[in-house]
Amino acid sequence: MLNNLRPGKIPADMPDDCFEEFDSCDTVACIRAALLELVAEVVPLCADRTLPGRLSEGGFHFAFNIAEGTGRRCREAVPAAVCELMGIPYSASDPLTLGLTLDKAMARRVVGSEVRVPGAVLVQREADFAALENLCYPVIVKPNDEGSSKGIRDNPIADDPAGARSRCERLLRHYGCPSLVEEFIEGIEVTVGILGNTPQERVLGVMEIEPVTRGARFVYSLEVKRDWRKCVTYHVPPRLDAGTVTMIEETAIRAFRLLGCRDFARIDFRLDRSGTLFFLECNALPGLDPANSDIVFLSANALNYRQLVQGILVEAARREAPSTP
Ligand SMILES: Nc1ncnc2c1ncn2[C@@H]1O[C@H](COP(=O)(O)OP(=O)(O)OP(=O)(O)O)[C@@H](O)[C@H]1O
Ligand SMILES: [Mg+2]
Repeated sequence: MLNNLRPGKIPADMPDDCFEEFDSCDTVACIRAALLELVAEVVPLCADRTLPGRLSEGGFHFAFNIAEGTGRRCREAVPAAVCELMGIPYSASDPLTLGLTLDKAMARRVVGSEVRVPGAVLVQREADFAALENLCYPVIVKPNDEGSSKGIRDNPIADDPAGARSRCERLLRHYGCPSLVEEFIEGIEVTVGILGNTPQERVLGVMEIEPVTRGARFVYSLEVKRDWRKCVTYHVPPRLDAGTVTMIEETAIRAFRLLGCRDFARIDFRLDRSGTLFFLECNALPGLDPANSDIVFLSANALNYRQLVQGILVEAARREAPSTP
């Protein structure tokens, strides 16, 4: 099992969410326990510079990949790319999709051909600030190539171009990455879990995230995710009519296919007041923390934790060896 463990200590010069996407020892242990019901041995391997050496020692037949990787916007693709290099089959999406989905602007370009995305500007350099004038405000400013709500803290919303600019400058200082400035969609937030492979992928569940404190500007921020028991109520299925739920499911599958996802993924959307659905982002390697991860919550009516983890392995194994029943 390829993973990156969350270090115990955060360096003094780094933001406190710098390791947010990494996994805890507990999560690794729970996944390992689930996998051991299906296979004889599971060895956790750290997806750092030692990985190619460890894999070359031999004896590894398959990689269950939950590694977020280290480095810049391609980081999530690297452990999967190492597996390809070593000829070891692995679970979840391939490097192209993992790189594409971690870069929110890239993912929007691909999905945007068929699925509605909010108006946005990618700010990479000084000259990009001018385009902020063209957006409808308010906007949300997020790091373009981060996940786990890193950098999306208590106040990511700006009401004018100057506010958006100062948030972009802050993100560049703290996270060193470009910012995606996106028109803020007020309305219901849903996240959709998908398991399987095209053309037989299926929706595991659609989950509505309802804020406990009502207000037009709810953001499912890092603070909310860390304190979800107090801040949100989850609804599976969402409190929406059947037709809307079907439309959300079909749109999620379309996005999954457009992005070339494999085995499983979680896709976030917002539904505005007029019922238009907007794609926010796709998590091709969503967290599998048994106590805190959205994909675990949204699939709970259909699968318990072990069944979810085992389902991912079974889908990956079937894909790698299509003749296996
Ligand atoms: N355009 C938008 N309009 C309204 N809210 C938004 C928009 N973009 C993001 N958000 C809010 O910010 C949250 C985090 O954004 P997003 O899902 O893009 O980031 P993330 O860090 O990749 O999240 P994850 O934890 O799912 O990996 C969303 O769940 C949503 O509440
Ligand atoms: Mg998200």
